[in-house]
Amino acid sequence: MSAPSIETIVSLAKRRGFVYPSSEIYGGLGSAWDYGPLGVELANNVRQAWWRWMVYERDDIEGLDSSIILNRLVWKYSGHEETFSDPLVDCRECNSRFRADKLDPEYGRTEEMAGGTMTFLEFHGDVIDCPNCGKRNWTTPRPFNLMFQTHVGAAAEIDAALGEYEPSSLVYLRPETAQGIFINFNNVLNTSRRKLPFGVAQIGKSFRNEVTPGNFIFRTREFEQMEMEYFVRPGEDEQAHQEWIDACHQWFINIGISPDNLRLYEQPKEELAHYAKRTVDIQYRYFPEREDEERNWDELMGIANRTDFDLRTHSKKPEDAEGKRLNPDSTEDLSYFDEQTKQRFYPYVIEPAAGVNRTVLALLMDAYSEKTNDKGETRVILKLHYSMAPIKVAVLPLAKNKPEIVGMAKAIKRSLQPLVRAVYDDTGGIGKLYARQDEIGTPFCVTVDHQSLEDEAVTVRDRDTWEQERVKVSDLSAYIRERLSPLAV
Ligand code: GAP
Repeated sequence: MSAPSIETIVSLAKRRGFVYPSSEIYGGLGSAWDYGPLGVELANNVRQAWWRWMVYERDDIEGLDSSIILNRLVWKYSGHEETFSDPLVDCRECNSRFRADKLDPEYGRTEEMAGGTMTFLEFHGDVIDCPNCGKRNWTTPRPFNLMFQTHVGAAAEIDAALGEYEPSSLVYLRPETAQGIFINFNNVLNTSRRKLPFGVAQIGKSFRNEVTPGNFIFRTREFEQMEMEYFVRPGEDEQAHQEWIDACHQWFINIGISPDNLRLYEQPKEELAHYAKRTVDIQYRYFPEREDEERNWDELMGIANRTDFDLRTHSKKPEDAEGKRLNPDSTEDLSYFDEQTKQRFYPYVIEPAAGVNRTVLALLMDAYSEKTNDKGETRVILKLHYSMAPIKVAVLPLAKNKPEIVGMAKAIKRSLQPLVRAVYDDTGGIGKLYARQDEIGTPFCVTVDHQSLEDEAVTVRDRDTWEQERVKVSDLSAYIRERLSPLAV
């Protein structure tokens, strides 16, 4: 089983310390969330597993950590200043604001006409009721750029007081990590002495002033991306693209997400970003409660064939038909010289781009299960893949008023902590402690009892089966390592 809805996870996440609403003591801030003690471990496990898989376990990928605030020109030439926007419409009656393409799925789509010409479909405001007041009195849709603006330098403050900023101080918080990779293409190429095909991976925060954030950590204005740009020779792009689609799909299964809750979505031509030749999304069943099965799914990651758009657009050499430089601001050419063929060209780019937060949400939803105990009570068990579990072992003393038992349990916890994330807990009866660990997905509970003082052995309880096994303390590290191996530690 998996969670019946995101709502089930919201309350579990807050109750157990995975994710809290941000700024709560001041009334909160819409769509901002803070990761608590367990959430930060789970998110770290996602990042580490992705990095290990993407960078360490391959021979052709390098890592990078570029700035969040880049030169504004990066976003001019990437196309974000002009096109990274959502169309907004206002209801003139009640002043509610909506995304035109959400109210009218036809809006903004291109339609192929006879003769091969394309035309944009208009907003059908005459037949769409305002979801708030029911009237049909709409403004014309207008673009709303999703990039957050800020201003750099001491002068910015004085300018702000005067109500006017010096235009050169304007910068954006990056809306994707990808551009930081493209502008460093020559740096990475020269310092790593790579040959095509090779990739550059990056994990980091991105920011989008989303018009309709929501659904917990699914869509927020501040989020984290795991992106990799894989540079290939033109002509080898289609095969590389398909290989990355298959590999990414398999990675989500490897970290414990059920294939039944994953699907591939081929973006139709009219949905493709301006730079993309083909994009396939990996979707997760985030909304199982929705009646219309098609609306159960939403994007977990996207895998795009970005062609040579990015390296070309940031290069100084390309010219238009009149011989005018397309990018008069760049000081570099990001083309690649192929020693084999003695040809120079702009590599194509395959981009697997996933969200840390959406992966965390998918893992929590997928791991959610319920089980009834002997007393007929329903217990929540978070059946996270061992590699993802925030805590691998909880050491529990059966009697917290017995110093020898407490001392032994604490010593066992200390002996395990160089190996795995282990905790000691004596804040309740054993039944309650087991239930708490089940609910946060801890694979093993180690219980120290009176007998342990005699036979130097402990009881190890399995999260999923509730079966118990007696293990010698001297064998415990090896036992845990064996059970968690090879991915978990
Ligand atoms: N460089 C390509 C790119 O940024 P994207 O599909 O816009 O592509 C990639 O973003 C991934 O980032 C998405 O699949 C999703 O997991 C995550 N993401 C995007 N916007 C998000 C948001 N507002 N909140 C949470 N995650 C988001």
